[in-house]
Amino acid sequence: MIAGKFISLEGVDGAGKSTHLGFIADRLRGQGREVVVTREPGGTPLGETLRELLLHREMDADTELLLMFAARQQHLAEVILPALARGAWVVSDRFTDASYAYQCGGRGIPAERIAVLETWVQRGFAPDLTLLFDVPPDIAEARRSAARTADRFEREADSFFSRVRNAYLDRARASPARIRVLDARQDIAALQVQISALLEGLC
Ligand code: TYD
Repeated sequence: MIAGKFISLEGVDGAGKSTHLGFIADRLRGQGREVVVTREPGGTPLGETLRELLLHREMDADTELLLMFAARQQHLAEVILPALARGAWVVSDRFTDASYAYQCGGRGIPAERIAVLETWVQRGFAPDLTLLFDVPPDIAEARRSAARTADRFEREADSFFSRVRNAYLDRARASPARIRVLDARQDIAALQVQISALLEGLC
């Protein structure tokens, strides 16, 4: 029986989602919950090895998609499902919505192919809440260029990130109860107020 809750954070590179991970974990821990903070691709020793390849090695788009789901399978089996089963809350920096946004929206892989892998690996499992940090492309681009050395995704053109953003927003429109869109142009304090309200709704 699943007792904990699973929260994923999403957004284009430069949306600032990672800034809010620590806040969410601290808030939930303050309520006495066990919290597991993790990320995709990655989250396990094998997944982190796959992440290195995914972020830095050139590869075919389908290979990229398959490796994302290979890492996800391991992540679910080794970390996410056991944590939820013991009642922990899991907060993941990205999950399957990123595959629809980047590999379908960005790279152009048909959504049906991703759906096949999603069914295979997740068997109906999905986050309880997804926070989508949304920013216009120019702001995300400015934040990306201020950051450290770009990886293979971060070097993509602005048009790639516009497609990724639109794919995320389409996903949010299709699942409005699960995927909550936050205007990430706001300052951190304003976002934290909204995030806190959404977390309360989940408790
Ligand atoms: P990201 O989460 O942005 O980490 P950092 O903040 O350290 O850059 O980097 C992960 C990258 O992986 C990001 O560019 C999006 C990409 N990604 C996909 O393309 N598909 C996926 O399914 C996932 C989980 C991530």
